[in-house]
Amino acid sequence: MDIQLRSSRVVIIGTGAVGATTAYTLFLRERASEIVLIDANKEKALGEALDMNHGLPFTGGVKLWAGDYSDCAGADIIVIAAGASQRPGETRIDLLKRNASIFDTIIKNIVKYNTQGIILVATNPVDILSYVSLKQSGFPSNRVIGSGTLLDSARFRYLIGQSKGINPRSIHAHIVGEHGDSELPLWSLANVAGIGLEISEEEKVDIFNNTKNAAYEIINAKGSTSYAIGLALDRIITSILLDEGSVLNVSTLLTDYNGVSDVYLGVPSIVDRSGVRQVLDLELSDQELQQFQSSANKLKAAIAELDL
Ligand code: 2OP
Repeated sequence: MDIQLRSSRVVIIGTGAVGATTAYTLFLRERASEIVLIDANKEKALGEALDMNHGLPFTGGVKLWAGDYSDCAGADIIVIAAGASQRPGETRIDLLKRNASIFDTIIKNIVKYNTQGIILVATNPVDILSYVSLKQSGFPSNRVIGSGTLLDSARFRYLIGQSKGINPRSIHAHIVGEHGDSELPLWSLANVAGIGLEISEEEKVDIFNNTKNAAYEIINAKGSTSYAIGLALDRIITSILLDEGSVLNVSTLLTDYNGVSDVYLGVPSIVDRSGVRQVLDLELSDQELQQFQSSANKLKAAIAELDL
């Protein structure tokens, strides 16, 4: 039987540290047959494209170029990584006003050329900007996804793995809520290959604080984060393009979910070709429920300040 490989196109808007690293990750792993880089600074996109293309003799056959919004036509996934990133000491929410204003233009430009693809938001504050993208695009919510707490959950798994001397791929553990200061760990669900995790209260406090503060630590040290978020975005994109149905803690629109509605938060979701196919139910303790709802309320208050 002939297997007809379908071509796939991923557009990346914003070629700063996150956008360029994501493009390079997809390029190395040959996740899509076409990768398009778009940046308000065309020179930057051209430079990144040229630099990656010079590696083609050592890699596969991905077609990658610096393009413009008309290249969004027919794209399977449009990643938005454009905008200001945190300076040392700034929170993600501090970026809201600056980044929300550029989203207006970006989303208008995307929908001019594409109404069938999936928008994947990485720009911070990611949960709120995913909600803004939903409202401005008019896309159904399954096709507007934020990177959410997938990265935080990876940091959490890494740190648990480090403390136990176990490969983080064998650690299953979730961070949910805001991708930011009000996120919360679900210790009751943390396990090693399905087997309960033995961990002291002190270790829990240390691991969660180090998870939550990881980005601040990296930004203080090197100015920005990029590698792990690039891999997290690659994971989401792969689950979409290969129709995997993997469970990933992406940011998605919640409706009547643990008392929360009309806000985007990171929760375990099944991700496939349709985008977010389903959000998994979570049984939260009273304390977790209260923290989850206060994370939602914090973001809703910030959304209310926007002119949507
Ligand atoms: C991160 O967590 C800054 O949101 C970015 O790495």
